[in-house]
Amino acid sequence: MTLQRDDALAQGPGAAASGPAIKIRARDINVFYGPKQALFDVSLDMTEKSVTALIGPSGCGKSTFLRCINRMNDTIPGARVEGRIELDGEDVNDRGIDPVVLRARVGMVFQKPNPFPKTIYENVAYGPRIHGIASTKGELDAIVEKSLKRAGLWAEVSDRLQQPGTGLSGGQQQRLVIARAIAVSPEVILMDEPCSALDPIATARIEELIDELRNQYCIVIVTHSMAQAARVSQRTAFSIWANWWKLATQAIFSPIPETAVPRTISPVGSVKDAAMNEHIVKSYEDELNALTAECARMGGLTEAQVADSLDAVIKRDLTLAEQVVARDERLDILQADIERKAIRLIALRQPMANDLRRTVAAMKIANNLERCGDLAKNIAKRTMVLADVEPIATLTRSIERMGRLVSGRLKDVLDAYTASNLERALQVWSRDDEVDEHYNSLFRELLTYMMGDPRTITACAHLLFVAKNMERIGDHATNIAEIIHYEITGDEMMSVTRPKTDDLTP
Ligand SMILES: Nc1ncnc2c1ncn2[C@@H]1O[C@H](COP(=O)(O)OP(=O)(O)OP(=O)(O)O)[C@@H](O)[C@H]1O
Ligand SMILES: [Mg+2]
Repeated sequence: MTLQRDDALAQGPGAAASGPAIKIRARDINVFYGPKQALFDVSLDMTEKSVTALIGPSGCGKSTFLRCINRMNDTIPGARVEGRIELDGEDVNDRGIDPVVLRARVGMVFQKPNPFPKTIYENVAYGPRIHGIASTKGELDAIVEKSLKRAGLWAEVSDRLQQPGTGLSGGQQQRLVIARAIAVSPEVILMDEPCSALDPIATARIEELIDELRNQYCIVIVTHSMAQAARVSQRTAFSIWANWWKLATQAIFSPIPETAVPRTISPVGSVKDAAMNEHIVKSYEDELNALTAECARMGGLTEAQVADSLDAVIKRDLTLAEQVVARDERLDILQADIERKAIRLIALRQPMANDLRRTVAAMKIANNLERCGDLAKNIAKRTMVLADVEPIATLTRSIERMGRLVSGRLKDVLDAYTASNLERALQVWSRDDEVDEHYNSLFRELLTYMMGDPRTITACAHLLFVAKNMERIGDHATNIAEIIHYEITGDEMMSVTRPKTDDLTP
């Protein structure tokens, strides 16, 4: 996946080149706390004068990511950040950047309101004073008043500026903290679940404020509420878990419609509500079924592509090879469609447990199938070159044997997927080394031919690529078996070593 494609998708569907300017560009961010990695290859763009929401389960690294932007992770012992974060094109981790100045440019508001143990006035005046923004008492007064007004708090506190900030209500304290952040004229405001400790009225007030502030600032907000993301943000990035952020960047950046519907059925409600909920759940299940059916259909097409590409190479059938190449685009389209639908489902329906796994599995399987399609296309393209060289019957037979084995594995694993048959998936998984063994013996065979008769080198080199592509299709079948295992059991198989034969010594 190229950076270019990431960029295009990160800007969301339909984003024109003249879209909103990118204020913060994060690329390949990895964060470690001691030996533990908390973020994996996160790449996100956040635009000027807009609100970007970050959503994801607890522990997936949302706060960690925010802290990368204003280098708050520098203050955590043992924390290490890799990758590049640019603010207006400038690397925030550059030696020349003073973190104190950076944190004035990138303000932060936390989950729990944290006013200083000072007066309301001093809470807001503190930043401008230490950053030398105001030179006279009059200027400072004006900044305090303006900031409190922008934060929507002035009317409530103008007559008690000298009272402690900690004496305000939770919602007022949060607005005071926002006023404090605004007072130093930041360019970016990071908000880490700013409303989670507030009641619905105080939450609504903060949300209105966020909406007003976006006219001036780039705002990045972490929230656990889908509905809040829908209300306040123009774009939302999702993470399913830490190493899924990258995928999120590629495809999930899109506006969430106001009509975002949570899937849960409320236990209380009128008959009309119940009927509506039933309808919601029914259409949700239909969507999920349609998604897995589309994935199974894509599986059928991929199987045919792989089988045809092998047929083409074995029979030197150029017409068939051309058809395989031409049909590959369909798989790309299907994969993009499955990904879009899965993401939409996750975004709008918030599936839980089994359903979430089904959705994620469909998306991951579609990715593997798309790769298989590419490999089949490459095999077909080799046919076009091989057609010009003399065939070697024994090699063709070996290729055919390996091809049959790989096609069979793909078919078995896709059958296991459609039948949700864990045992069958595990059988495919446990026979992963058969393909490697075939590949290794074919490799030696090809080498023997090449050494024995240099005129066969061209043909053998192309056949070697064909064999390598088949071996990789076999690997994708194993990946799919692992995904099925995850879908059915909820456990990843990463901890278990694949049965591999990796002996390539000629
Ligand atoms: N200071 C730290 N030291 C060690 N590990 C940490 C530290 N801060 C976070 N982590 C770990 O990094 C991972 C990501 O944590 P983070 O707080 O960024 O998640 P989050 O998505 O903000 O979660 P939540 O929604 O619960 O706030 C977690 O596994 C967490 O345990
Ligand atoms: Mg957090």
